[in-house]
Amino acid sequence: MDIYGHNQKVWDKYVRDKVRWTVPVSDAEIAAAKRGEWNVILTPTKGVPQKWFPEMHGTKILGLASSGGQQGPVLAAAGAEVTIFDQSENQLHQDRTLSEKHQLGIRTLQGDMRDLSVFEDNTFDVVFNPCSVVFVEELESVWRECHRVLKPGGVLMSGLINPVIFQLEQKRDAFRLAYPQPFSDIHSLPKHKLDQLIANNETLEFGHTLTDQIGGQLNAGFVVTDFYEDDWNGERDMDKYLPSFFATRAVKR
Ligand SMILES: C[S@@+](CC[C@H](N)C(=O)[O-])C[C@H]1O[C@@H](n2cnc3c(N)ncnc32)[C@H](O)[C@@H]1O
Repeated sequence: MDIYGHNQKVWDKYVRDKVRWTVPVSDAEIAAAKRGEWNVILTPTKGVPQKWFPEMHGTKILGLASSGGQQGPVLAAAGAEVTIFDQSENQLHQDRTLSEKHQLGIRTLQGDMRDLSVFEDNTFDVVFNPCSVVFVEELESVWRECHRVLKPGGVLMSGLINPVIFQLEQKRDAFRLAYPQPFSDIHSLPKHKLDQLIANNETLEFGHTLTDQIGGQLNAGFVVTDFYEDDWNGERDMDKYLPSFFATRAVKR
């Protein structure tokens, strides 16, 4: 099945439905970022520590699968030269709209995060990748491409999901281990559940092992230099048990 094509249509629809990950930042947030007061997320709640970023002025940042007018406009208003790369035209449109309105000079490109061949080797100082590798089946090419397009010493920041989350099934307020790792909607779910996801126009996702998420970055030639965990800020029952998300900062060796 064409997972990329399915998820692309769903993300375009999510923009029309104004789901959380598609709502652009306000004019006030952009004005604040221009004054040096800014905050961006890789995971739902916690801001990325500012010490993760180099000095922003002129820093070349690739927002990888990061469109929707959230992080790109803030990073550009804070002084970075931002390129946003994403599969969804509707998401990219929001970055273009804010960029034009506030003269942020953001470059937008549509494509698949597994193939960054549109970029030369050693192009970016930072690759900023909010929770999105969950939408691709195989991560090796993502980490390899991130490594290739970063300059030596460049930084990869990724929002990731704890694979245990995908193994669990909720019955009322209890969870049971239902699926082995690695999880994928297309291979792990019973057919009727998968059909329901597709019929409901929901994204198809993959619960990658820690080996694929962290070991994969190390294998591609990164050194992981920092890490934090995050949750839904109490919005979901899972928060009572464990943080669903984590973020890594990795440097190209
Ligand atoms: C959770 S959103 C993250 C962006 C958002 N600005 C945020 O953090 O709130 C995931 C993004 O990944 C993009 N995406 C999913 N699969 C992709 C792929 N294979 N290649 C490029 N972009 C992809 C979607 O279009 C969507 O914009």
